Amino acid sequence: MSATTAYTPVPAELIRRAGADPHRPAYHFTAPAGWLNDPNGLTQRHGEYHLFYQFNPAAPVHDRIHWGHAVSTDLVHWRDLPIALTPSAGPDVDGCWSGVLVYDGETPTLVYSGRHDGVELPCIATGSPDLAEWTKDPGNPVIDAPPRADVTAFRDHCVWREGEVWRQLIGSGIRGQGGTAFLYESEDLRTWRFLGPLMVGDASAGDPGSDDWTGTMWECVDLFRLRDDDSVERDILVFSAWNDGVTHHPLYWSGRYEGDHFEPVSLHRLDLGGRYFYAPQSMRDESGRRLMFGWLQEGRPDSASIAAGWSGVMSLPRVITPGPDGTVHQAPAPEVDALRATQLVDASAQLSAHALDLGRGNQLDIEVRLTLADEGQAIVVLCATSDDDERTVLTVRRDDDRAEVVLDRSRSSLDPDADATVRSGTVALPADGAIDVRVLIDHSALEIFVGGVALTARIYPTSDDAVHARISGDAGEVRVRVWEMASVSRATHAMGGLAE
Ligand code: FRU
Repeated sequence: MSATTAYTPVPAELIRRAGADPHRPAYHFTAPAGWLNDPNGLTQRHGEYHLFYQFNPAAPVHDRIHWGHAVSTDLVHWRDLPIALTPSAGPDVDGCWSGVLVYDGETPTLVYSGRHDGVELPCIATGSPDLAEWTKDPGNPVIDAPPRADVTAFRDHCVWREGEVWRQLIGSGIRGQGGTAFLYESEDLRTWRFLGPLMVGDASAGDPGSDDWTGTMWECVDLFRLRDDDSVERDILVFSAWNDGVTHHPLYWSGRYEGDHFEPVSLHRLDLGGRYFYAPQSMRDESGRRLMFGWLQEGRPDSASIAAGWSGVMSLPRVITPGPDGTVHQAPAPEVDALRATQLVDASAQLSAHALDLGRGNQLDIEVRLTLADEGQAIVVLCATSDDDERTVLTVRRDDDRAEVVLDRSRSSLDPDADATVRSGTVALPADGAIDVRVLIDHSALEIFVGGVALTARIYPTSDDAVHARISGDAGEVRVRVWEMASVSRATHAMGGLAE
């Protein structure tokens, strides 16, 4: 079979339009232009991080998905490389959908979902040592049908080495029951034995409108083990709840993976922003950290993305560690701090109704250490115009041993087509009421971390003056530091290659 690496030029006109869009992030990773969705094939090799991603270079719509490829030595400055996978005649003619990268001895190998005639099946491709050139396997698809007829879908892969064998999870759902992850085993990544469902969700439990409904299909299943300081292990099964074409939200089961099963103990929301942090994938890096990236979906109509020439933002890298009560703790990787360019604020104060100015900008890193008295609250206003006509409001309110976190986007944009729904949830609070809040604003991309719980969203202010930030509140102390973040100029393997 021929080598399939190809570089599909991104139309210069799309790149020009994308570059002119004020909503385009400046320090988050985005595709050169066109469409981006899930992170794929995450790995660190010889010190270099590789980020592959679902990519349509031709237009900012989800169609004929390729694998884009970028590399970085520090997780924040990325260099674009040629496209890694391009749909071609055969089982991935309609798209190279999500998957992972594993090392088969010395051979880098991608396990991904090839799409053909509205159906996805597992495919593999082997790579050159520098991970730049990929050759699709002549035996694709390596599994030629889902294990049972009554599945809602069958795609996305989590693959790991266990003893002498490979194990694989494929995301799916059983009609009339719920989402699932099917477990397979193989000696060679090419012939797979079906072992059964790792666990099956119950789609009839809870309301499909609720923010922890588990859906009828689990996209992008990701299983990993976390070990806390006392070497206590917990297993985490992440999935993105999907139903009938609707991307609901990422959730995770905390529990125990043993034998061929996962015994769940508790279910949690992975991100209080729901669909704004979708289809995450994680990796263990060379230093042993569990890093995670997710896809920040758009919150404006498709027509606006088409006009803008681009769609989709990759999250900042997150470090995942064990949190309280079976939860995971998320924080931006410390590498992100390297982008802090100018410090705008460094202050300690008593929270009061009189707001403390947090400076201005739409590329900010705001770090707040709050100590909240019971029923005390802090209100952070972001991206506000001088007249407050546009503003985004984050409230953190103490309620006994929890803090309620609310992101009000009802006034984030005067554009009536921008999503304005509220995002909220609660976070465990220590007895003294101390909690860290971090707000990373990057034009339309917003990543918030409160006590290790993430809330991701998108906002689209219409005014150039929507750059003011402030904090107010009552009953408590605050220590704030604010930085303006540097723009990350993107290096391209050959700018000439991007021209039409
Ligand atoms: C999740 C997802 C995956 C699929 C890919 C297609 O966002 O729908 O299930 O493999 O995106 O681009």
